[in-house]
Amino acid sequence: MAVIENAKLTIVGAGAVGAATAYASLIRGAARHVVLHDIDAARVEAEALDLAHGSLFTGSSTVTGSADVDATADSHVVVVTAGAPQRPGQTRLELIDTNARIFRTMMPRLVEASPGAVFVIVTNPCDVLTLLAQQQTGLPAERLFASGTVLDTSRLRWRLAERAGVAASSVHAHIVGEHGDTEFPLWSSATIGPVPLLEWDPLDRDPFTPDELDEIAQDVRTAAYRIIAGKGATNYAIGLSATRIVEAVLRDERAVLPVSTVLSDFRGLPEVALSVPSIVGSSGAFPIRETRFSDEEHALLHASAEAIRETADRVRD
Ligand code: 2OP
Repeated sequence: MAVIENAKLTIVGAGAVGAATAYASLIRGAARHVVLHDIDAARVEAEALDLAHGSLFTGSSTVTGSADVDATADSHVVVVTAGAPQRPGQTRLELIDTNARIFRTMMPRLVEASPGAVFVIVTNPCDVLTLLAQQQTGLPAERLFASGTVLDTSRLRWRLAERAGVAASSVHAHIVGEHGDTEFPLWSSATIGPVPLLEWDPLDRDPFTPDELDEIAQDVRTAAYRIIAGKGATNYAIGLSATRIVEAVLRDERAVLPVSTVLSDFRGLPEVALSVPSIVGSSGAFPIRETRFSDEEHALLHASAEAIRETADRVRD
């Protein structure tokens, strides 16, 4: 596919994340048609109506809501947010039994309605669900992937930018691995502008210390728990992250984003879905196989893969 005009975006799930994703997509004009789909007819129709009432201010996109999966037919991109969300203190991996059960019936119906679409899994645990859904549906790995650590990478760049006094867009650093407790930053290849992060030493600020970088990484890794404890869910940043991915697909940007694809024969890993920097365009997501990992980062990648596979194997049996 090249740049897609008159594109149709379906967002599955009209909860906090799905509604935020629809809202962000309308404000950013990510797609010409936005369909919000949820089994709760009253909820999805109300969310869509509330969004439509802002059309005067959001441009030419249309937005509709339906509990009928047929309304999602022939979508170009399908963002899946449906499922149980984390409760305070609950890990993302602990959601797998409930959400794998939902996915087992939901995903084949969505793929049947939009066989040519790119599917972006946001529901957690997004890496495990991506691995299971790709194996169940047989879609090519590039066309069924997860938002992964795009959100975590945004959290990281926000923290580093604030500390360094530069724009987040000038901080080139990635969180990779599981979108979850085993995620980690690729410090070895991080830069601020052209300067390696570990060599950043401007006149007006102190350089980063290893302890400080560890604290920033832990702060990013645990960010969702704090937000969920305070307001019950995260939604705005994940909605914007999902919308960024949708834009890269529909505009055929070939943007480098750390989405989570099913990796085969990657750095000695068993088959698994996790985030590495990937090229995202209208054909889907392609992991950058030349991504460099230090020895320590390589070990962390394997540990992250093990956590994901262990959960997938448990629920598959
Ligand atoms: C987040 O990281 C809960 O996965 C969601 O905000």
